Formats: sequence, C-alpha cells, structure tokens
Amino acid sequence: MKRTPDLDRVASAQLQRPQGVVLKGQFIDVLRSPKGKIKGVCLQTETATYSIKLPKYLRPVLVRELTPGDFVQVWAYCEAEQWRGINILPLSEPERIDLQENWQARQFVPTSSPNVDTAAVSEASAIAPTEPSASAPKPLCVQVCRKGKCFKQGGRQIMQSLETAIADDPNLQHVSVEGVGCLKACKKGPNIKLSHSKKVISGVTPDNALTIVTKYA
Ligand code: FES
Repeated sequence: MKRTPDLDRVASAQLQRPQGVVLKGQFIDVLRSPKGKIKGVCLQTETATYSIKLPKYLRPVLVRELTPGDFVQVWAYCEAEQWRGINILPLSEPERIDLQENWQARQFVPTSSPNVDTAAVSEASAIAPTEPSASAPKPLCVQVCRKGKCFKQGGRQIMQSLETAIADDPNLQHVSVEGVGCLKACKKGPNIKLSHSKKVISGVTPDNALTIVTKYA
C-alpha cells in the first residue's frame, strides 16, 4: 500500500512520542484557545472528560469529518499534565454499538447526546473555551527507568506489566507509561517516577508496579 504524507507524519509522531493510550468515547466538543482557535477535542469516556490537544495537521479532520456526538478513538499521551493526541478516528459501527451498550449496562449517561446541536456547541465554545471537567482525573505519566541496572533487573517487564494492566482497566485510562533514562538511583533499582512528583520510587517489580501506581492514580 502506498503511504500518504499524513500516514508518514502519524507514524513518525508515534515513534517520537512517549508511550500512550487509546481513549474511546464520545467527541463532545471542540477544544478551543481563548481566541476561539481550534486546538483539539473534548472527549467523554466512561471515566472522565478529556481535553486533548491535536497536532495542526489533524485539526481539519474535526471540522471536515466529525460532528460532536460522534464516537471516536484517540491515540493520546500525557506530557506535562496536558493530554496530546497523535491520531483520531471514528469508531467502527460494531465498536460504537458495543461501547454504547456497555455504557447503558452501567447506566452511564454521557455529557451530551449524539444529537447535540453542532452550531450551538461551536458558538458556545467560541465564547467560552472548554475547561476540563472537574471530575476528570489528572493525567498521570509513569516514567520507568530502562537503563543499565534497572533494565537488567526487569525495567522492561515492569513497563509491559503496567501497559497491559492499564489497557485492561477503564479507570486507568488517564495513566500512560514512558520509558526514560537513568533516574540516578541505580543501586536501589528498578526505579520509576510519577509525573506529578519528583520522588523516585525504588524496588519496583512487575508484580507490585500496578499497586504502586494505583495508589497515586
Ligand atoms: S539505571 Fe535506573 S536509575 Fe540508574
């Protein structure tokens, strides 16, 4: 298949960015700057409302191909407590039905209905930029040392076990995992660090990593 420039940009963005997550939910609004410029997407998942900045080349997709109320999946990662998307695609029909049935089964009511008035949303957004919902958990990035001693003692397995556990837990969709260089505590490794703290947590194993992270998530 011939690669398009857009696909190449997405692939290279994916290679350069920290490990992220796939967030599935309802596109409820356009994220705008205080001057009203389109910056990204507000996404309602079952657990939170996310304000996700999109790269410039993806923003026209919001206007051209998506309508508030659509169900989408966003590949995103957190950096300095800001969610950033690297790709956004509509959910397939079977996936959308699955997600809606799941929400109904759990009696979850999304912020807006799929028949939301697009014009009204755009107008409201231009006047008042969208703020993250008060209930949205803060993005948390788990930095796992993958150098020297930590790597030899299980850094990679810690990353894998966290990624698997996070992908399986809808309550942890605001958590992402990133491999980083030496955290300067090699003797006590394997080590991790959480984005909202300067403290290095030592003696982490694939078995206790999730327990440690959920304490702070
Ligand atoms: S090698 Fe992991 S902290 Fe130095």
